Amino acid sequence: MAGSLRLTLPLRLSAVLLLSCWFGIAGAARPAPSDVGLGRGGNASFVGAWCAGTKYPALCNATLSPHAASVGASLTRLAWAALNVTHDGARNSTKAMKRMAADGHLAPVAAEAARDCVSMLGDAVDLLGQSVEAMEEAAAEEEGQAPQQSRRMARFRVDSVLTWASAALTDGHMCMEGFKGQAAGGGGVRKAVRGRVVGLVHLSANALCIVNAMANQTPP
Ligand SMILES: *[C@@H]1O[C@H](CO)[C@@H](O)[C@H](O)[C@H]1NC(C)=O
Ligand SMILES: *[C@@H]1O[C@H](CO)[C@@H](O)[C@H](O)[C@H]1NC(C)=O
Ligand SMILES: *[C@@H]1O[C@H](CO)[C@@H](O)[C@H](O)[C@H]1NC(C)=O
Ligand SMILES: *[C@@H]1O[C@H](CO)[C@@H](O)[C@H](O)[C@H]1NC(C)=O
Repeated sequence: MAGSLRLTLPLRLSAVLLLSCWFGIAGAARPAPSDVGLGRGGNASFVGAWCAGTKYPALCNATLSPHAASVGASLTRLAWAALNVTHDGARNSTKAMKRMAADGHLAPVAAEAARDCVSMLGDAVDLLGQSVEAMEEAAAEEEGQAPQQSRRMARFRVDSVLTWASAALTDGHMCMEGFKGQAAGGGGVRKAVRGRVVGLVHLSANALCIVNAMANQTPP
């Protein structure tokens, strides 16, 4: 099932992005250069200004502000930091769902759904790990620490990151969907799963939004 859903991702991607952020909509809410300068409030204002356009601005700012110094005023580094945090969140969700799957108290249907979750979230960790590596490369090139790739390769790389991060978001959604219905333990279990996974879904949506803004900055 995960495989067939993955195939439809390129079609779903633009829909996900439109739902996830504001930058795509005729440049709305794209921070003005005067708002993101280092003069007013230092680099934290760069993070804050970009986070304001994401779907979950408070979560974005809370998770990325601590990395403001390392982000500086680079959108590439902001995207890298967002993927770092999302990767971390995916590892946390996987661990939490592993503990849940190992707990003998679940109904059989829920236990199976929990095992499916662990496997899907494990995939998400791998995909986000690849995304982080790709952004690390992009940042090294931007800073002249690695030879510049061709525009075509850079475009391919950013498109790959968008595909991987949106697959990670889908994995999180599908994990929660697996607990629909009474046989999977009802509302209590569903709520517990949501608590362990929704953070990852929101972080992925924010990261997608920022990577997409970065992609739009790169000439085609
Ligand atoms: C973002 O977080 C920083 C640090 O926690 C805080 O100082 C700042 O006011 C926040 N900005 C917004 C727009 O929420
Ligand atoms: C802002 O970014 C620059 C360049 O990355 C960094 O050297 C500096 O420490 C940062 N300043 C603050 C206040 O975060
Ligand atoms: C991403 O994480 C790596 C490894 O922890 C770290 O070295 C790097 O500075 C982080 N990137 C940003 C932009 O914060
Ligand atoms: C992941 O868990 C660690 C340890 O509990 C925590 O410090 C970190 O903030 C969590 N990261 C995310 C993105 O949830």
